[in-house]
Amino acid sequence: MTQTAMLQPLVAAGKRLESDLVAFRRDLHRFPELSLEESETAAKVAAQLKAMGYEVRTGVGGHGVVAELAGPRPGKTIALRADMDALPIQEETGLPYASERPGVMHACGHDAHTTMLLGAARLLLERREQLAGTIRFLFQSAEETNQGARKMIEEGALDHVDEIYGLHNLPTLAVGKVATRYGSLMGSVDRIEITVEGKGGHGAIPDQSIDPVVASSAIIMGLQSAVSRETSPFDPVVVTIGSLQAGDSYNVIPQRARLTGTIRTFSPRVQATMKERIARIAGHIAEAHRCKATVDYVELTPVLVSNDDCVAHVERVVDAAIGAEHRIEAAPTLAGEDFSLYLQHVPGCFFWLGSGPLEGAERAYGLHHPKFRIEEECLPLGASLLAAIAIARLGGE
Ligand code: NI
Repeated sequence: MTQTAMLQPLVAAGKRLESDLVAFRRDLHRFPELSLEESETAAKVAAQLKAMGYEVRTGVGGHGVVAELAGPRPGKTIALRADMDALPIQEETGLPYASERPGVMHACGHDAHTTMLLGAARLLLERREQLAGTIRFLFQSAEETNQGARKMIEEGALDHVDEIYGLHNLPTLAVGKVATRYGSLMGSVDRIEITVEGKGGHGAIPDQSIDPVVASSAIIMGLQSAVSRETSPFDPVVVTIGSLQAGDSYNVIPQRARLTGTIRTFSPRVQATMKERIARIAGHIAEAHRCKATVDYVELTPVLVSNDDCVAHVERVVDAAIGAEHRIEAAPTLAGEDFSLYLQHVPGCFFWLGSGPLEGAERAYGLHHPKFRIEEECLPLGASLLAAIAIARLGGE
């Protein structure tokens, strides 16, 4: 059987699950849970899997849920991953199934990803006889805080896995479309915390104090030169100081100031150089102002780099399942995704699935926006594509 002859019926089978998938996703959407608090969501996922007949491992890396489907013949183990957590955002969509939890919202569509992977688990179970190998389903906690993947890996989620695949919905891409990219797709995410120690005193007597606020201001400006003067214009880097806290009073020079920020890069080579730069620039500028800077540099997630062979596989599956005319090349982004950690251990591919309106998707509200919404037709398609990627890789004929 050709891939097209095998995969197109899988898309049709996904379509038949649409009303179930929509209902399940709306329920998750009404009751979102923050990172590492996804206990109800995980229980719903586990209940669905058990009802299908899966054996389920719960509490993996937080509230992660793992299930496995072994075919009748031996072969590779393919992991498929979805994330389950929501964001601390007050929903403003006005949808009838909008979040019922104040200040918490599925504004990144992880409710949709979870639903798609459950749909894939159902589609694959019905086709178990075709599998030469094993499929592992990973429902992950705490993607938004870059904690979940790391914990899942520590607790064995990738043991014996040969390849891993995952997707993220994209509201600025029309539903029915897929975007793929070879190599780097998303940026590394590092967090910096800088404490600038001075000497507190009277706001009117600066000569008897050492002012950490002026030093911090110089550091914030100086750090931009790490980008503009020290890295190639062809290597994207972002240095953002997101918070500056110092002092409580208008007429007091505080003892210390505290800055936090994030560094994003698009190449592991550049990421590896940023820690030294930030520490050197902040340290010496502080010194020039008679202060002392302590720099805490925390690497959260690496650059997301897909494996070429796995990208080619996804592209072949997408083309066979929905037609090459529905696939575009993804633009790179410096937003982060902790799927990158799995890719440091095993080859795989991460791709974008359109979840935006058919007309004017480029004007849709983006990920993490209080008015973010998805076109629900992406649910059956995502389920079918995840299933197709796995089944086509395991020699399913
Ligand atoms: Ni997300």
